[in-house]
Amino acid sequence: MTQPLTIALSKGRILDDTLPLLAEAGIHPAEDIQKSRKLIFDTNHEHIKLVVIRATDVPTYVEYGAADLGVAGKDVLMEYNSDNLCEPLDLNIATCRLMTAALKDVEMPAGRLKVATKFVNIAKRYFAEQGRQVDIIKLYGGMELAPIMGLADLIVDIVDTGNTLKANGLEARDLIAPISSRLVASRASMKVKHAQIQPIIDQMAAAVERQR
Ligand code: ADP
Ligand code: PRP
Ligand code: MG
Repeated sequence: MTQPLTIALSKGRILDDTLPLLAEAGIHPAEDIQKSRKLIFDTNHEHIKLVVIRATDVPTYVEYGAADLGVAGKDVLMEYNSDNLCEPLDLNIATCRLMTAALKDVEMPAGRLKVATKFVNIAKRYFAEQGRQVDIIKLYGGMELAPIMGLADLIVDIVDTGNTLKANGLEARDLIAPISSRLVASRASMKVKHAQIQPIIDQMAAAVERQR
């Protein structure tokens, strides 16, 4: 018997790039996800459902087994940082960089740095590795404002074109990690549902290769 399978998709900018890859794996939502207020969708496969949730919630659904597979940014996965999750495929979509940034031409103070970010765990780990003492200030968005307002010396944020930094008088400083979106699974579901999950991974991998 075919077991039910749920795939958790990040809503927002990743979704547009995820749907074509799913389509190449033969998975088509039963209705237009972008036009719907629903959070759960049937597909052309009776046993496969899609759920569409906040990007930061995807690892949680996958880790607890509520979803079998997920799509999430490497930044989100690094921040979530669970040993129970694995990344069977780099989808090579929503590519960007996780960087530190500061006001243009402003030197960093010698002592403790104030760092504003939504990536608290990543920032803690990064500055600990650098041997740098920091006070982390948790924000939920618009990190670029923090140095302008004197809330922080440095931010840790996503940089793509660099337009947001530039528009706010900031500059990128150090690269923390290159980012792209990944297929994520729990180690448990990879074992238990291997026969169903592996063909999806293989077909999405072939689609990713064709897009390179
Ligand atoms: P959120 O509301 O959580 O910021 P987004 O849809 O903006 O969600 O971002 C989802 C993912 O897309 C991020 O986790 C990151 O991996 C990637 N990303 C974020 N900003 C950009 C960007 N400006 N360019 C490319 N990829 C990005
Ligand atoms: C993301 C990110 C940066 C910006 C970087 O913000 O947090 O602010 O994109 O892209 P750029 O280098 O091309 O300017 P987003 O638009 O997702 O806003 P958010 O704060 O709601 O996440
Ligand atoms: Mg965003």
